[in-house]
Amino acid sequence: MEFYRHRRLRRSSGLRQLVRETKLSVDDFIQPLFVKEGLTEKQEVASMPGVYQFSLEDLLPEVQECVNLGIRAFIVFGIPSEKDEIGSQASAENGIVQEAIRLIKKHFPETVVIADTCLCEFTSHGHCGILRGEEVDNDLSLTRLTEVAVSQARAGADVIAPSNAMDGFVAAIRQGLDAAGFEDIPIMSYAIKFASSFYGPFRDAGESAPAFGDRKTYQMDPANRLEALREAKSDEEQGADFLMVKPALAFLDILRELRQETQLPLVTYNVSGEYAMVKAAAQQGWINEKAIVMETLTSMKRAGADLIITYFAKDAAGYLKEG
Ligand code: PBG
Repeated sequence: MEFYRHRRLRRSSGLRQLVRETKLSVDDFIQPLFVKEGLTEKQEVASMPGVYQFSLEDLLPEVQECVNLGIRAFIVFGIPSEKDEIGSQASAENGIVQEAIRLIKKHFPETVVIADTCLCEFTSHGHCGILRGEEVDNDLSLTRLTEVAVSQARAGADVIAPSNAMDGFVAAIRQGLDAAGFEDIPIMSYAIKFASSFYGPFRDAGESAPAFGDRKTYQMDPANRLEALREAKSDEEQGADFLMVKPALAFLDILRELRQETQLPLVTYNVSGEYAMVKAAAQQGWINEKAIVMETLTSMKRAGADLIITYFAKDAAGYLKEG
């Protein structure tokens, strides 16, 4: 009988290590940070055990801990103490995100600080853009979001990551950054962002749930694959420097396909709901958390991600150290 013995290459952990195709590294991870104005001490997010809203003071020890683990990239989200229709605080010179960026860059100049550019944490209505009636107006939003991006660059952000899902945001922000002298600041586009139920816990952390309606007129229908590729293509044409697929796990097919279509670095966002599900099951003792985390992060990299934004960054960095 003739057949090939695949098991030959699996006989020992040494051999398995030799033929392993995908290897996670701490360099792959981007750690999200939530900073809340007016907090006196860090506060755990109920639906995301182990994830905190930080005060500016608590932020530095957290960043230090990450840096000690080898994590060097961070994406910053802010929760202001005052919200209004246009999200004024999102572009304020002393806004919470701007302060956080300045603080991190001052103490850890070698880190890469990415600013999430959106309005939903800053607007009274919780939508990601500017309203006209009950509609999110695309072009009014672009002008506003560009102001936000420029203010973040001014505060010292190394990368601008627009997550607002408006059409033309890459072009508008690129133009705004260039005009303000920030032609060297890259744009990490949330190019393929689905209107996903996996964002639920994030909206607790970011205090950013929409006050009415949903985000389905600007974020994508999870059923659409070709549209996703068109979205990514437009962002690349407009000058995006990184492309993102979000969420990760339910959309690995999209990530794989995009990998074949572009030469840009790809990012995926292992979102809040994905984190919460693993944590909840682990707390019940129903799964092996470490094994599940490493398996899912590896699957994202195998599917084509160069970088992974994940709330598991610290845990995974620790696991990698342990070996
Ligand atoms: C929008 C934004 C969202 C996330 C990151 N940026 C959520 C939303 O559309 O409400 C979600 C990330 C996560 O779920 O972890 N500014």
